[in-house]
Amino acid sequence: MSIELLAETAQAMVAPGKGIIAIDESTGTIAKRFASVGIENTEENRRAYRELLLTTPKLNEHISGAILYDETIRQSTRDGVPFAKYMADHGMIPGIKVDKGAHPLAGCPGELVTEGLDGLRERLQEYYRLGARFAKWRAVINIGESIPSGTCIESNAHALARYAALCQECGLVPMVEPEVIMDGDHDIETCYEVTEATLRSLFDALYQQNVLLEGTILKASMVISGKDCDEQADVEEVAEATVMCLKSTVPAILPGVVFLSGGQSDEQSTAHLNAMNQLDKLPWPLSFSYGRAMQQAALKLWAQDMKGNYDAAQKTVFERARENGMAALGKWEG
Ligand code: 13P
Repeated sequence: MSIELLAETAQAMVAPGKGIIAIDESTGTIAKRFASVGIENTEENRRAYRELLLTTPKLNEHISGAILYDETIRQSTRDGVPFAKYMADHGMIPGIKVDKGAHPLAGCPGELVTEGLDGLRERLQEYYRLGARFAKWRAVINIGESIPSGTCIESNAHALARYAALCQECGLVPMVEPEVIMDGDHDIETCYEVTEATLRSLFDALYQQNVLLEGTILKASMVISGKDCDEQADVEEVAEATVMCLKSTVPAILPGVVFLSGGQSDEQSTAHLNAMNQLDKLPWPLSFSYGRAMQQAALKLWAQDMKGNYDAAQKTVFERARENGMAALGKWEG
């Protein structure tokens, strides 16, 4: 696959004022989200819910692409149009989650390593045939008493780089996601140090595996106080710390960085992105690839009345896309 095509896709993913909607929850994760609002976790409910999200009118004004799950990329709208085709027809790039989840890392109690490299080449080739043009792999880095270890950071970086090289061979833009988890009572300085070490290790591994950064997107977590930390950094502090950490670790040639929401409220996630985009001289576009912060309001509405609230739920999705799209330009007004 030519690097030009990969670079073109990567640039389109972070086009000005546009971001990604992450709807790649595994069947287990969507079960939890559905249970929290009283929806039964059936295949048809999962399909109908993903259809609601993807067919939101005018979604492509602020959304460049969506990350799908294995089941979802094989599903269709109620009119029989495969979701990947529906997206391409509406100017949105289909993406696919390809990792097989974070599992306990042997020898490192309390730490996780993401699995899924076995057979990945063949799976990527199939996803390309099904219409996917980018793929996502999420590594999980927990902060706690004496963790993360160097072993955890390096093992995850190595797997991310192996996956990224395979993606590019198969014509898919790798979205590399090393998520530093917000859970815990650590302060923002600790989050900064861990994020910095994680990103340094990641870009070192990408270099070692011959990954072309021009055709790669970073999905990053923000530098933020732990959820249970007594002292919560404010919006400006989060924005400044996150941008400084990225500037010191992420090469300028990368086409863009998108953020996960990671358990932040809708408003926080938008305010943080907006504040970052109001800072001077950013080397790359900073945008969003939110899951919960794009969906949670719509899911609640839909759960209350699947038919009666369908349009209202889609309006909510559009509104969240619009707000985050404005934040990607630093023009969100709150
Ligand atoms: P959240 O925005 O809900 O963290 O999800 C994004 C995602 O894709 C996590 O892998």
